[in-house]
Amino acid sequence: MISNDQPRGREVFASSMGFVLAAAGSAVGLGNMWRFSYMTAEGGGAAFVLLYLLMTVLIGVPVMAMEFAVGRRARSSPIGAVRQIGGRGWGLLGYLLVLTPVIILAYFSVIAGWALHYAVDAIRSFSTAPSERFAFVSTGAPAIFYHLILMATTILIVMFGIRKGIERAAVILMPVLFTILIGLALWASTLPGAEQGYSFYLQTSIEALLNPTVIRQAASQAFLSLSVGMGVMITYASYLSREEGLVKNAMIVSLADFSVAFIAGLVVFPIIFALGISEEINNSTIGTLFISIPHAFQQMGMLGQVVGLAFFMVLALAGLTSSVSLLEVGTASIIDEFKIPRKTATLTAGIGAAIVGIFPAMSQDILGDMDKISGELLVIFGALGMSVLGGWFMKDPQSELAEGASPFIRRWIPLLIFLVRYLVPTFMLVILAMSFKETITQLLG
Ligand code: PHE
Repeated sequence: MISNDQPRGREVFASSMGFVLAAAGSAVGLGNMWRFSYMTAEGGGAAFVLLYLLMTVLIGVPVMAMEFAVGRRARSSPIGAVRQIGGRGWGLLGYLLVLTPVIILAYFSVIAGWALHYAVDAIRSFSTAPSERFAFVSTGAPAIFYHLILMATTILIVMFGIRKGIERAAVILMPVLFTILIGLALWASTLPGAEQGYSFYLQTSIEALLNPTVIRQAASQAFLSLSVGMGVMITYASYLSREEGLVKNAMIVSLADFSVAFIAGLVVFPIIFALGISEEINNSTIGTLFISIPHAFQQMGMLGQVVGLAFFMVLALAGLTSSVSLLEVGTASIIDEFKIPRKTATLTAGIGAAIVGIFPAMSQDILGDMDKISGELLVIFGALGMSVLGGWFMKDPQSELAEGASPFIRRWIPLLIFLVRYLVPTFMLVILAMSFKETITQLLG
């Protein structure tokens, strides 16, 4: 059913900018800084970055545009949307697209909580024993406490709804985030020894480009970072006006997302190399960023505290706008499926995720496993499902994508659909087979 009007009572984003910033707010998150830097370090620097860019363009943009199309046509959160587009049998995909964000929200909020805790440290002063400090911050009562602060803030924003909550928060927070991040990159370029960081980050070898593990990691990182394959973009687009160009928006959001990750690298790697702490990042673990960076700032004294505050605030804010989008999926699903008011729905989904989050806040192993399962398996399943649904089962995706698009963009739509139909599923299946093997081996090991 194609409706030109919003079903009664469903909100619409007030402006194009508001939608783009909210979607970018979802995409730009801890994934761009925390996960991107440790993946880049693990994947041998520039090779990973290049592959990640390629995946973003070839696979990320088409899938995102398709998710926008599904969400806007169905005007519903994922469960209802996939059923409307594909039929009842697709319900399972819908549930997956709601489950994944809840899992991700639970542990993302814990990590964003660490960032907030370090921002508070920056005001007081960074610890001289960074590893011990991280052990303290990352697990147990302090982690639970900051996780709950983050969840409470997220719940509050989502409760206010699309225009007054999500859109407003994005319009205020995203420009702040971009500005601070660019400031940080400029500052990092003045560090002695920054070149070493840049050369690790920006030089590549052919071998690394062909390494299957790196290719696989770059692909799943692209999905996770773009927030596709997990119902978020479907949900946001269900509030989007028909005058908006979907492909254009997908390109802008993806570009913003890649740029932030790229700029974050321009901040992180010079700091790491300038201070000769590249050893630590080599033993890359979840904690890399949270151990080496505060260590660096601590050595810089007062200046380190100021810059450190900016750095961790950016991280916490990025985490917050992503958490908001993740909670919106659960909230919108409860509203659509059970027809209950937004406040109750937000509280139900939010408190649920807050409780689940206590587990990763108590154990880093659990957190790591949640990240692996959702980031490397569920997301890929979700994206595969979406590309098959959009490419093969959706009626006339072309017309939905063309609506609101400029003549120039319209010419590219057939290519985009081709990518969604053939390239994305083939690639996803290969990746899934590889991921499955690796993740299972790691989980058992
Ligand atoms: N895209 C976010 C990031 O890069 C993570 C995220 C995934 C957010 C899924 C929302 C939904 O950090």
